[in-house]
Amino acid sequence: MKMKKGSKKRGSNFESFNPLENKTILLGVSGGIAAYKACDIASLLRRSGASVHAVLTPNAREFITPLSLTTITRNQTHCEQYGPTADWRPEHIDLAKKCDLILIAPATADIIAKLATGICDDLLTTMVLASQAKVMIAPAMNPVMLQHPATQHNLSILENRYRYDIVAPEYGEVACGDVGLGKMAAVESIIAAVAARLLAHQTLSTKRVLVTAGGTREPIDPVRFIGNRSSGKMGIAMADSAYSRGADVTLISTVDVERAYPVIVVETAQEMQEAVEAEFDSCDALVMTAAVADFRPLAVSAQKIKKTESEDIVLELTKNPDIIDLLGRVKRKDQVIIGFAAESEALLSNAASKLKRKNLDMIVGNDISVPDIGFGSDDNAVVILSAEGTRESLPRMPKRAIADHICDLLSERFQVLEKELAH
Ligand code: PMT
Repeated sequence: MKMKKGSKKRGSNFESFNPLENKTILLGVSGGIAAYKACDIASLLRRSGASVHAVLTPNAREFITPLSLTTITRNQTHCEQYGPTADWRPEHIDLAKKCDLILIAPATADIIAKLATGICDDLLTTMVLASQAKVMIAPAMNPVMLQHPATQHNLSILENRYRYDIVAPEYGEVACGDVGLGKMAAVESIIAAVAARLLAHQTLSTKRVLVTAGGTREPIDPVRFIGNRSSGKMGIAMADSAYSRGADVTLISTVDVERAYPVIVVETAQEMQEAVEAEFDSCDALVMTAAVADFRPLAVSAQKIKKTESEDIVLELTKNPDIIDLLGRVKRKDQVIIGFAAESEALLSNAASKLKRKNLDMIVGNDISVPDIGFGSDDNAVVILSAEGTRESLPRMPKRAIADHICDLLSERFQVLEKELAH
């Protein structure tokens, strides 16, 4: 087992921490009378340190000019989907990829319908589809339009899509004189929601998170081993994501990586067990992403087994300890254990039974029979089951995006636990 010292954990002094500093926010404006409030939103975001880039839909331009937003944001406002570009790679696609958050305020019934169905017939909706950033929408419309079953259905689609946050509209008099629910949330509430979302990245700052990654190797002789196809990418993405949220991370991995947090390199299941058990007591969460061999050779030959010795060779195997199972039995009430399930069939039922059998708080199931996800690839697609009975499917996306979402769920789990334990 090899210990690599990571650099000292960054300080997390919230008092001097400006959540919007170094953040890039794409401010989408769709065509409703509340579009004029986009100027206040842009101004407050910029003064909070964010780099704000406005994108107007064609209808929004009926209410507000690009010049106003360019002046307020101090960045070029984007409007044209097919306009001339200085570079071969349109700037707005770069922006869609690099932004930390897309805020659409106001969001009309029309743009909500487009987002729910994946229509991208203007620059803003195209950028949302080209981006993997979180999207926050602040609906604003006539109360009857908001209550229309189509709008409610579209909002519920977005609500259940992990990328979206909705800043609920308020009750009041809307531009056409009708009174009801539909007024865009107050600018201050929108800014608070944006800050909370960006601050969510620090929600693990008081937590110690232990992550395992890679596939264990069980030696047969000094040359050969029984292994599996795990590259460690999913586990490393989990550790990186928890670290970026401020957690005190330790990674126990079969793959050696240079990181700012401590990495303990192990080879076999038994070494992994020893390392995990040594750290478990002091951790708040254990995320077992590693593919741990269920069996190992009963005896390890001290010398290289020669092929001349016999025509056939019988390898006797013995069971390895099930690390997560053992720790699931002794975990404290304030600890969270997340397991992964690599399944080639019956993903849901197998994952659900492991969740229960191993006393886990959450299990992340991936179907390893699907090409280009799971083992070795940069992407994954998962179903996440919780002990409370919730189920969420994430479509194919980069492992880091999956890890980010799991860390969001972990943060929420800690919040619930803290409330429960306070009673
Ligand atoms: O590393 P990558 O190439 O990025 O691939 C990622 C992955 C496919 C390895 C990952 O997403 C994944 O599915 N990891 C779990 C693989 C696995 O061992 O699944 P399992 O269903 O056999 O085990 C269930 C859980 O028990 C896992 O959390 C596992 O870490 C744990 N376990 C299993 C056996 C054992 N002896 N001890 C354990 O703790």
